Amino acid sequence: MNETVYRVLLVFIFAMSALTFASSMKRVTRYGRYMKDHQKNTLPALWGWLLFESPQVVAFALCFWLTAESPSVVAIGIFCVWQAHYVHRAVLFPLRLNNRHKRFPVGGVLAGLVFNSINGVLNGWAVAHAAHLDSTTWLTDPRFVVGAAIMAVGWGINFHSDNTLIGLRSDGFKGYRIPTGGLFTYVSAANYFGEIVMWTGFALMTWTAAGLAFAVFTVANLLPRGLAHHRWYLKTFDDYPPERRAILPGLL
Ligand SMILES: NC(=O)c1ccc[n+]([C@@H]2O[C@H](COP(=O)([O-])OP(=O)(O)OC[C@H]3O[C@@H](n4cnc5c(N)ncnc54)[C@H](OP(=O)(O)O)[C@@H]3O)[C@@H](O)[C@H]2O)c1
Repeated sequence: MNETVYRVLLVFIFAMSALTFASSMKRVTRYGRYMKDHQKNTLPALWGWLLFESPQVVAFALCFWLTAESPSVVAIGIFCVWQAHYVHRAVLFPLRLNNRHKRFPVGGVLAGLVFNSINGVLNGWAVAHAAHLDSTTWLTDPRFVVGAAIMAVGWGINFHSDNTLIGLRSDGFKGYRIPTGGLFTYVSAANYFGEIVMWTGFALMTWTAAGLAFAVFTVANLLPRGLAHHRWYLKTFDDYPPERRAILPGLL
């Protein structure tokens, strides 16, 4: 890995963001509630999540530890934040989902594997090599302080909202209910809103082009899906709260 490869991979992520946004606005990706009844080439949803999210853990770790010459305390701290989130997302989160009856498309797993491997490599390399992360003075820089606060708030919203959704099936129910409480009071896709806030904070606190690219991709991926979820709720539930927005509280 060198600066040229890093730039090529960055362009790839930005290009994928544009493509993902355009295609998801046209047709929502078929997993979760959008799976067709007899969709072909699928695997259990639990394995799908484990497989396609795990490169974010492995690729980031390999790239970070194999290419960093002597990683700083700040870089190691950011490494830990990334790993804590993705070990939860790739392993603990799918185990907690009440979706053992669900399948996941193989195509989606393969696309996720490729994208997440590249994203993990890119962000691992960026954090290992960013000169401004070499000194602990970065910890008092306003970009770090504000970014870390935004990331923490976003993570809290995402975690709380995912827990609310998991709780909707804690009694063994297999269908869908109207989520309430927390940020669901304001938006249909509260977990996606939290995810977008979280990666925006990460981009700010790391101040790397790779962090920015992933934040842009997260918006490109989740904004159209949040809009689709909102339309789906309105169509499915007659008593759906009319004041609730799709994904951005008070705005969209
Ligand atoms: N950074 C990124 O680009 C990115 C991309 C994708 C996902 N993510 C994150 O990964 C997490 C999961 O994403 P997702 O797309 O699977 O989210 P989701 O569509 O909100 O579903 C999350 C889980 O809750 C269940 N669920 C959702 N709404 C429900 C309802 N009204 N009633 C009962 N159960 C409900 C789903 O079941 P079903 O599976 O049966 O629908 C699924 O098990 C989120 O935190 C998201 O932010 C991040």
